[in-house]
Formats: sequence, C-alpha cells, structure tokens
Amino acid sequence: MEKSRPHVILSAAISIDGKIATRLGDSKLSSKKDKIRLHRLRSKVDAILVGKNTIHRDDPLLTVRYVKGKNPTRIILDSQGTIPVNSKILQTCNKVPTIIAVSKKISKVNLQKLKKFPVEIIMTGENSVNIKSLMNNLSKRKINTVLVEGGGTVNWQFIQNNLFDEILITITPFIIGGIDAITFVQGRGFDKIIKSPRLRLNTIKRLENYLVLHYTKV
Ligand SMILES: NC(=O)c1ccc[n+]([C@@H]2O[C@H](COP(=O)([O-])OP(=O)(O)OC[C@H]3O[C@@H](n4cnc5c(N)ncnc54)[C@H](OP(=O)(O)O)[C@@H]3O)[C@@H](O)[C@H]2O)c1
Repeated sequence: MEKSRPHVILSAAISIDGKIATRLGDSKLSSKKDKIRLHRLRSKVDAILVGKNTIHRDDPLLTVRYVKGKNPTRIILDSQGTIPVNSKILQTCNKVPTIIAVSKKISKVNLQKLKKFPVEIIMTGENSVNIKSLMNNLSKRKINTVLVEGGGTVNWQFIQNNLFDEILITITPFIIGGIDAITFVQGRGFDKIIKSPRLRLNTIKRLENYLVLHYTKV
C-alpha cells in the first residue's frame, strides 16, 4: 500500500534559549561543521520545505553546497504566492527542482507571476496551504523524505498536526532572548505538557561548541 505521507524530519539550529532568529530576523546561528552535517543530510532527502517568511527574511538557496551530492526538490509554503521574483529560489529554479505550494487565496496576478517560472505549483487549502493534502500529493510524486527547515510557524503546523517523525536540533552557543525573537516552534503552542508529542532522545553529537540532538517520536 502507498504511504499517505513522506517521512518528515524537522531541523533547526537554535540558541540555548530556543530561538531560531533574533527579533530582526538574524538567523546565522550555525557553524561550518554543522552546515556540513546539514548539507550531507540535505543530499539524502527528496525534498526540503520552508515557509514563506524564511524566504522573505533569509533569501536562502536551499541547495547542497558544503558536500558533494544531489540537490533535493525545494518546497516553499506560500499561500498567496508572494515570493519575490528576484529571490534566489526563483532565480535558480531552472537548475533546481522547485515546488511552490499555494492556497486558493492566491491572486491571479501572483499566480501568473509564478507561472512565468519553471516551478511546479501545487494549489491546496482555502486560506493557507493544507499541509496534510500537500504531504499526500508529495507521496504520490515519490517524494518519500522531507526535511522541514522552518521557520517556527511552519514547525508548529507540522508538530500540531502530528506530521513529523524525527527532530534534529543543533544547540548553538548563543543566547538571543526577547519576546519578538522567533522560537523553534511558534503558533499557539500546547496548553498542557501531556499534549506534547512524546520524544525519544536517540543520539547526542558534539561538534566543538555545538550539540546536535536527534529525537524520534515514541
Ligand atoms: N535557525 C534556523 O534553523 C532557522 C531555520 C529557518 C528559519 N529561521 C528563521 O525563522 C524566521 C521565519 O519564521 P516564521 O515563523 O516567521 O515563518 P515561516 O515558518 O518561515 O513561514 C510562515 C509562513 O508560511 C506560510 N504558510 C503557508 N501555509 C502554511 C502552513 N500550512 N503552515 C504554516 N505556514 C504556512 C504562511 O504565510 P502565508 O499564509 O502568507 O503563506 C506563514 O506565515 C526567519 O527569521 C528565519 O530566519 C531560522
């Protein structure tokens, strides 16, 4: 029987107080060794997925650069198709397979803008992208592993909907602080600890001053 969704790994570099970016959006927390580890992981998955705020803030390439290996498909959750035409993602989509997941709320203008690029557009959900049906769609396309690289709002949706299997967290030697700084998991959050998914700590890897924690769901 076909699996209804891909295997999902959530990944982030966090400060010791659980933030993934400062209040101004500076998210340069990772180290060279951690980037090599992350890029090796990227080369082994079928797709990388991020939310549109991460594109607007960081303008990432989401490719494999620190090691040799294939680029996974890049998936952007962008309900209204607001990704800038000069973003690195759209500027490189002729070389790296790219999916823009949008909702039915997208304007005709933004849809036409996206259609000028060689990207796949998946439309699902009324107001924001329906990630359950998106995952189902990806399975049918033989995308069997997805690395979710944030940001915090996207992470919450995957956790709240129980759509993940593993978490890889790099604890970086920084303290960010501030209520306006983005945390690893945003959204409303759980009101009771009992509602949190149960996690098993599988491995702890020390990369100099950084710690990589690998959790799986119990
Ligand atoms: N340290 C790290 O490892 C790391 C990694 C990644 C990002 N970051 C940082 O995280 C920050 C961005 O995080 P963020 O929480 O503001 O935004 P985000 O998670 O990157 O993007 C959230 C946006 O994605 C869109 N989206 C569409 N469908 C969605 C769905 N079903 N579920 C969730 N989102 C959906 C929504 O906008 P629409 O409804 O308009 O589409 C939503 O506001 C940046 O500052 C970035 O630097 C850090």
